[in-house]
Amino acid sequence: MTTAQKTATAELACFNPSCRAHYEITEILYNCPKCGSLLEADYADSRHDPSTFRRLFRDRRMSNAPLDQSGVWRFRELLPFLENYDRVVTLREGNTPLLDAPAAAAYGGLDRLAFKHQGFNPTGSFKDNGMTCGVAQALRLGMRRVACVSTGNTSASMAAYAAAAGLEALIFLPHGNISFGKLAQALEYGAKTFQVEANFDQILALVRGLAERLGIYLLNSVNPFRIEGQKTIMFEMLDRRDWRAPDWVVLPGGNLGNVSAFGKALREARQNGLIDRLPRLAVIQAEGSAPFYEFWKSGAREFHPVEKPETLATAIRIGDPVSWPKALHEIRASDGAVEKVSEQQIADAKAIIGRCGIGCEPASAATLAGIRKLAASGVIDRRADVIAVLTGNLLKDPDYIFKYHTGKLEAPDGAKLQSTFGNQPVVVPNDADRIAQLL
Ligand code: F0G
Repeated sequence: MTTAQKTATAELACFNPSCRAHYEITEILYNCPKCGSLLEADYADSRHDPSTFRRLFRDRRMSNAPLDQSGVWRFRELLPFLENYDRVVTLREGNTPLLDAPAAAAYGGLDRLAFKHQGFNPTGSFKDNGMTCGVAQALRLGMRRVACVSTGNTSASMAAYAAAAGLEALIFLPHGNISFGKLAQALEYGAKTFQVEANFDQILALVRGLAERLGIYLLNSVNPFRIEGQKTIMFEMLDRRDWRAPDWVVLPGGNLGNVSAFGKALREARQNGLIDRLPRLAVIQAEGSAPFYEFWKSGAREFHPVEKPETLATAIRIGDPVSWPKALHEIRASDGAVEKVSEQQIADAKAIIGRCGIGCEPASAATLAGIRKLAASGVIDRRADVIAVLTGNLLKDPDYIFKYHTGKLEAPDGAKLQSTFGNQPVVVPNDADRIAQLL
């Protein structure tokens, strides 16, 4: 293992400020060999003229070149870890909309609210932004096999990008605890899929060992190149707002890779003069899987994983999030907040997002439920300029939706959830008069 001189443009750097060891960008590492902390991509000489950049990113929206059509690679100067782009595989990820949602704003206790909807991505979640980068790095390193453990979306995304890139995809899932929509995607994209009798945290430990033993490239969010790709969710949000920073960015938290990526993106955008202030980040967790919330609330002294995480928002059913040190740094750096919400609050917020004609999967709806709590307690001012990130598409988990609207949704402890904004389908005979009566 060599500690590289800090002369190359892109390197891997230890995230731990008291270590900060540097490694070559082409070393296959997920943690610092010296101290075990997380790693990040670090760029020397990455200052740029902001107005030239703003114009360049905008002009690329008119281009027919695949790289420019990608909402990730459109910003490639802000994630310069590759020396060339010959082997990049893009499914035209990113370029997702900012959608105004007045009804959701009113429900949340705000004057206005816009959703950045990552469910518009090729495989229906924000994972595609990171996966195009992770797979590009796998190809650059000459890896043939890629692996991940997933609550569903990472596996769907990795399966698609690996298939497009001609890589073998190995997927490890907690048996019985992911939605069929996501499992179906992994199967359809041809990934070898293992359903393990364990939870996400246990399987991650297992797969990390296997990856090292068998020379397989790991594409979980502990992979720093995934984080580089997910930074573009913030760049794109800012580009669409003419680089006016909002007051708050609210997102759900599971393994805490996304908040790490958003924080890094916003800090780098400020360093580059693309924005003049940092938005505050708010991470929302589900009550039964809220180790980061408990940690933050107790003064961020000692991190205690949740042994048996539970939530119907299976995407964020994670008790031992690997990226908590990065997440802590970003919440502190942005003067942010952490909140937790109940199963009922998630379910009702989700139905409201649906009523806006927008829709999302359960984990994503934690954002609106969290906003409602943070606005009620005065942490978020009702006049604030707030962006909530919807991380996954409504069709990822139709089973949950059907149960909510028909009054059959039960919390993990068996408690019946209220169908507060339920919308039952009506069974009718094949009889125009009878139907007319009902109308
Ligand atoms: N929302 C959705 C829809 C997700 O799929 C995930 C994570 C999150 C939020 C949380 O993001 O982990 O960066 O804090 N899903 C991962 C997976 C863990 O395997 O698909 P995070």
